[in-house]
Amino acid sequence: MKTFEVKTKISFGENSLARLKELKTDRVFIVTDPFVVSSRLIEYIEKPLLDANIKFTLFSDVVPDPPIDKVIKGVNAVLSDKANCIIAVGGGSAMDTAKAIKKFANGIDGGYNPKLICIPTTSGTGSEVTSFAVISDTQNGVKIPLSSEDMLPDEAILDEVLVRSVPSNITADTGMDVLTHAIEAYVSINNDEFSGALAEKAVEICGQFLLRSYADNNDIHARRKIHIASCLAGLAFNSASLGLNHGMAHQLGAKFHIPHGRANAILLPYVIEYNSDIRKATKSQKEYRSCVRKYCNVARILGVSNLNEVTTIRAIVSYVQFMMQEMNMPLKVSQILSITKEDYFASIEEMAENALKDKCTATNPRVPTKDEIIEIYKKIW
Ligand SMILES: NC(=O)c1ccc[n+]([C@@H]2O[C@H](COP(=O)([O-])OP(=O)(O)OC[C@H]3O[C@@H](n4cnc5c(N)ncnc54)[C@H](O)[C@@H]3O)[C@@H](O)[C@H]2O)c1
Ligand SMILES: [Fe+2]
Repeated sequence: MKTFEVKTKISFGENSLARLKELKTDRVFIVTDPFVVSSRLIEYIEKPLLDANIKFTLFSDVVPDPPIDKVIKGVNAVLSDKANCIIAVGGGSAMDTAKAIKKFANGIDGGYNPKLICIPTTSGTGSEVTSFAVISDTQNGVKIPLSSEDMLPDEAILDEVLVRSVPSNITADTGMDVLTHAIEAYVSINNDEFSGALAEKAVEICGQFLLRSYADNNDIHARRKIHIASCLAGLAFNSASLGLNHGMAHQLGAKFHIPHGRANAILLPYVIEYNSDIRKATKSQKEYRSCVRKYCNVARILGVSNLNEVTTIRAIVSYVQFMMQEMNMPLKVSQILSITKEDYFASIEEMAENALKDKCTATNPRVPTKDEIIEIYKKIW
């Protein structure tokens, strides 16, 4: 038996932050990052809370790739505050920090089980509707994907007013994260018709609106669409999980602090090639891996479907790289890292071991060996 459930209530579209005025609570604990405070984006959250006479405490210590020590600091703060609602405002890092704070605080005080509301300010991770949180173990240079139903947000608010300020480079990174979520959920061994429908719509919106959203911050229509696509892709992978692309990207983030979406984008063409197992030598193959049909559907939705499976897989790979070039993204890690090739190659074995153990890799459509992962890490230099 399979089940499909969407527990998170989603408010979206223009003026959706007005939902905050309706909250049945007297005090909230806000988890956010310093940019959201310094840019005064936080006022979009504070205003409706003040209007509704809801008191709040601000915890703004979130940093990208949230490390465990920041989570512990947040746990201590929330346990002394005991607000009955936590509101996360920010990108994946703020939302994941809030989820981990809620989970660990409940682990210490079993009676403390606040409501969790996530308000994304980037259109990327879909964390507002997932039971995942990615926390960094900075000492060992690894990212730890946590997954627990207790971390599934009760509510998500998608108001495009918060993503207008996202600069083009972050729009590119986070937008490619959305596309990677949708494609990985779609080809995951856990995919089904429900997650598939959500993933297909997210792919379609990315194809139609990502470049528009990148090109113009004030294209509110495109920004709203990509904000919704991010959430749709989150719902898809919350059910179907992800794959090798994320398993490998987590290691690049933990080791070299490559922004999450950028790491995913660089890997995506190589992981599609690897998963589909279509090379020149397979041109005469009669049967392809089952994920090839899925990738061909993705190509059809993106309008790059081609004469046969071989050329269609090539077309998706070219499409991904075309999108990256249009958005001035690096295609290789050597374009970003300020270390030598030798130093990068020296890290590969450990990254491959950790990618193999990463929870996301378990649902990849092709079971990778360590040597195959090493090959992909080498190819992206
Ligand atoms: N929980 C999940 O399901 C899930 C899924 C994918 C990724 N992740 C994790 O999420 C994190 C990445 O999240 P992210 O890509 O949203 O980045 P982020 O939260 O790290 O934010 C990136 C940068 O964008 C800035 N920013 C945020 N909102 C902005 C706005 N409106 N205008 C201008 N700048 C803004 C932030 O201050 C920060 O400097 C990684 O740790 C990744 O591992 C989690
Ligand atoms: Fe992601």
